[in-house]
Amino acid sequence: MELAKLGADIVLLARNEKALQEVQSELSESSNQNHSYYVADFSKTSEVLAISKKISSQHHIDILVNNTGGPAGGPIIDAEAEAFRIAFNQHLINNQQLVQAVVPGMKEKGYGRIINVISTSVKVPLNGLGVSNTIRGAVANWSKTMANELGQYGITVNNVLPGATMTSRLDSIATNKAEKTGSSKDEVLAQMANAAPAKRVGLPEEVANAVAFLSTPAAAYINGVNLPVDGGRTPSL
Ligand SMILES: NC(=O)c1ccc[n+]([C@@H]2O[C@H](COP(=O)([O-])OP(=O)(O)OC[C@H]3O[C@@H](n4cnc5c(N)ncnc54)[C@H](OP(=O)(O)O)[C@@H]3O)[C@@H](O)[C@H]2O)c1
Repeated sequence: MELAKLGADIVLLARNEKALQEVQSELSESSNQNHSYYVADFSKTSEVLAISKKISSQHHIDILVNNTGGPAGGPIIDAEAEAFRIAFNQHLINNQQLVQAVVPGMKEKGYGRIINVISTSVKVPLNGLGVSNTIRGAVANWSKTMANELGQYGITVNNVLPGATMTSRLDSIATNKAEKTGSSKDEVLAQMANAAPAKRVGLPEEVANAVAFLSTPAAAYINGVNLPVDGGRTPSL
C-alpha cells in the first residue's frame, strides 16, 4: 500500500485469491497505475518457480519485496528435520527463484531493489523460535552475498527486520501464547509492547515505510544492510 501511494505498479503474490483481490482494490491508483495479482503457495517451490517466470515475462520488476509468513515457533531441540527443510524451501529457495527471475530485467535497466522482510532474530536469536532463527540467519547471509554481487548493476539488496508488529500473524501468536500461559491476549500483547523502549508494538505501515524508503532512488548507496524496525527492542547494534 505504501509503495502504491508512491506511484508504483504493484504485483501481489500470495495464496488467498479473495484477500489478494481485496488488497488490490485498496491500492492507490493516484498515478494511473495498473495493479495485478498472482496466486501461489510458497510451500510448493515448483509452483513459485513457474509463477516467477510468468511474472517476469509479463512485467518489468524494479522492486522485489520478499515477505511471506514465518516458520512455526517452538524450541529448536524439539524441531523435526522436516521443519527445517520446509522453512528453508519457503524462505530461501523461493527468494532465490524470485531473484533469479527478476534480476535480468533489473540489470538491463541498471536499477533494482530487493528487500527481504526477515526478523530481528538475524541479529539476536529470539527464544522459542528455533527453526525461524536458523533459517532467518541463512536468508540474511544469502542476501548479503547477493548484495555483494549485484551492487555493480545498480541493484541493492537489503533486509528489513520487524519487531513485534500488529498484523494478523502477531494476533494469532498472541492468542496461542495466551492459551498456553493462561494469561489474556491483551496481557501477552502488553508484555510484547513493554519489551521495546518504544513501549508499544509496531504498526504494519511503520515496517512498510522502511521498505518504501529502501525502494527509492534516495537509498541508492544503502546496500547489504539489516534494518531493524522494532522500537529499539533488539539489544545489540
Ligand atoms: N508481525 C510480526 O510481529 C513479525 C515480526 C518479525 C518478523 N515478521 C515476519 O515478517 C513477514 C510478514 O509478517 P506478517 O506479520 O505480515 O505475516 P502475515 O500477517 O502472516 O502475512 C503473511 C503474508 O504472507 C502470505 N503467505 C503466508 N504463507 C504463505 C505461503 N505459504 N505462500 C504464499 N504466501 C504466503 C500471506 O497471504 P496468504 O495467506 O494469502 O498466502 C500474507 O500476505 C513474515 O516473514 C514474518 O515472519 C513478522
